[in-house]
Amino acid sequence: MPYLRIGMVMCVLQLNGWGGDQGGLMSAYEDAFLVGAAINRNQVAGGEPKALNLAREHFNSVTPENDLKWEKVHPEPGQFNFGPGDRLVALAEANDWALIGHTLVWHQQTPDWVFQDEDGNLASAELLRERLKDHILTVAGRYRGKIHGWDVANEIFNDDGSWRESLWYTILGEEYLYLAFEYAQKADPSAELYYNDYNLWKASKREAVINLVQALRKRGLRIDAVGFQGHYGLDYPDLKDLEGSLKAMKMAKIPTMVTELDISLLPFPNADQRGADISLNFELQAHLNPYPDGLPPEMEKQLTKRYVSLFKLFNKYQDNMTRVTFWGITDNTTWRNNWPVHGRTDYPLLFDRNYQAKPAVEEVLKLSRN
Ligand code: XIL
Repeated sequence: MPYLRIGMVMCVLQLNGWGGDQGGLMSAYEDAFLVGAAINRNQVAGGEPKALNLAREHFNSVTPENDLKWEKVHPEPGQFNFGPGDRLVALAEANDWALIGHTLVWHQQTPDWVFQDEDGNLASAELLRERLKDHILTVAGRYRGKIHGWDVANEIFNDDGSWRESLWYTILGEEYLYLAFEYAQKADPSAELYYNDYNLWKASKREAVINLVQALRKRGLRIDAVGFQGHYGLDYPDLKDLEGSLKAMKMAKIPTMVTELDISLLPFPNADQRGADISLNFELQAHLNPYPDGLPPEMEKQLTKRYVSLFKLFNKYQDNMTRVTFWGITDNTTWRNNWPVHGRTDYPLLFDRNYQAKPAVEEVLKLSRN
């Protein structure tokens, strides 16, 4: 009987395209960095068992795609929705996954009431400060000791390095960022604390973040790493620019992570707006959705090549990189199917719509062996 069982396990591994002894991505990169994926509510609830199997095989870290964002976890004043977060914590514990909290302060996916007083006018600095404190102490406090690291703040800078004029900034000024790190550290002293953003390959934005980290440290506040989101394309960004930023962070002694990696194979409607501004929503047109019925082999090859180049770069900087997380598990649920154009068919991840490893997986595994 035990032999039969082992035989079945081997068989499953073979079907997944694995020899068995190599293990998945997480084992291959075990000495370099954590390898993670964003996971959605349905997957956590068991609605997509094949995606969960892939996560168990390849990833040792997960990030909830939406469920710890303000609008999900704290939709109304005084009302917290911890069900999905609690279920993810339990799943992460059962699988020994390093769980990433995403995210405490952001200008997106935050309800309007947060910035308003009882009369619907702009909240005062005092009121907003109180809300920020209550939110962070309650949410990060609930998961104290269970979260590997928190994306304390997300996307506070414009691409030119100036502060984004979000309502956080309008009402509280730069102070909100320092308060967020202070409260997060208080709520969960054992969690790592991160700053997360897109387009950090741009020198202007990267410099702003380096200055911010130094300002935090000067104030005695802890920040453990900076997350590069990584919503990329085949020719975007130029890897020389990305390397420039990975190097600059290393020189400044700031550990880096890639937190939301995906490589879109579809045309981006307006090159100037590349990045990850989730409010973009271009009209769907046929020429923007060239592969609705499957990916041409030539494009598959290009995706593989691009992933290999990126992982070569990550390997080069691995002594200063702590994690590489993909923004999703397979192509069928990637947000890139709906951003920046709704309803397209994109192919940005390492696993396809049938839960099969793409050729890129074997190449990325090979790189780790060399
Ligand atoms: C995205 C999710 O993937 C979508 O499901 C949601 O509708 C919008 O947000 N930068 C981030 C992530 O930090 O939280 C965003 O996630 C993608 C861009």
